[in-house]
Amino acid sequence: MSKISTYQQLIVDELKGRKYGANPKELYEPIEYIMSLGGKRMRPVLVLMACDFFDGDVNAALHPSIAIELFHNFTLVHDDIMDKAPLRRGKQTVHEKWNDNIAILSGDAMMVRAYQELCKADVKLLPVLLEIFSDTAAKVCEGQQLDMNYESVSKVSIPNYIKMIELKTAVLLGGALKMGALIGGAREEDAQKLYNFGKHIGIAFQLQDDILDVYADADKFGKQKGGDIIANKKTYLLLKAMEMSESNRYLKEELQQWIAAPHFEPREKVEAVTNIYNFLNVKELARAEMKKQYDAAMSCLKDIPVSEEKKNALIGFADSLMVREV
Ligand code: IPE
Ligand code: IPE
Ligand code: MG
Ligand code: MG
Ligand code: MG
Repeated sequence: MSKISTYQQLIVDELKGRKYGANPKELYEPIEYIMSLGGKRMRPVLVLMACDFFDGDVNAALHPSIAIELFHNFTLVHDDIMDKAPLRRGKQTVHEKWNDNIAILSGDAMMVRAYQELCKADVKLLPVLLEIFSDTAAKVCEGQQLDMNYESVSKVSIPNYIKMIELKTAVLLGGALKMGALIGGAREEDAQKLYNFGKHIGIAFQLQDDILDVYADADKFGKQKGGDIIANKKTYLLLKAMEMSESNRYLKEELQQWIAAPHFEPREKVEAVTNIYNFLNVKELARAEMKKQYDAAMSCLKDIPVSEEKKNALIGFADSLMVREV
């Protein structure tokens, strides 16, 4: 069994049968629901892998890794309200199954439980872990707000888009790795290199997420396809399509019409915008940017003084993200 699947199993076992509280049940049942729907568990796996990377005791990283997974799931519950998403991990989203208020409050309670879980870490490391965790959480909120702001902004530059996905998605991968590294006994400067590795991998991960939103195999995906197109999310695909259609009046007008349309048949809009993406081949441009970020991630690993074998485990993880289908 690879390290990745061993650690994934450790997290799954740790979460199995967990209760997050009893009453009122409307507050706690949604938490059990979302936490038991699965997911790749990649952020907690990263905490454990980073700890192992520096030869630390992985058991000491287990509570912080669960804290990260709780926090991640909390962001999904609120993200699905914000994105009006009906499906998550192949099942109804919390706000659809219950309602918005329940999803808001259960999400809040998950954030609290995440902090409680983190506080079980070694007391000597706790101040620094709390600081990384809180700083990361604040950045995720900043990224999520930018993501919402950009829905109604007509022009977003590629650097601003990259910054937005760094905040909403990538810093959590970086934070997970940095926490695991410090628990594993890493020097601050090496922990920071792992953070930067996670940041670049995280940016590539969100680019792939944007691609999958349009091009995933619907049977595997588990989320509503085309949700980003319906909501006018300023994804890499859309921004590149806007840029490239500048020199083609017909395409430019068609794209602008779909973006500006107050009423539309969702299926029609998704199909039409996807056709424009296909015509302009923007998916390949997004893949090229992913590769750039992947290479940047690799160069962060280069001069950390650990064995090639340990590095290969992290590289294997990064490789699996580059080709993920869910
Ligand atoms: C979804 O994250 C949210 C993004 C940052 C794109 P994942 O794709 O890791 O979701 P799960 O936890 O595996 O379901
Ligand atoms: C989500 O980005 C980022 C966070 C949850 C913080 P998306 O909105 O693209 O994630 P999905 O596609 O719903 O999983
Ligand atoms: Mg979403
Ligand atoms: Mg979102
Ligand atoms: Mg997405």
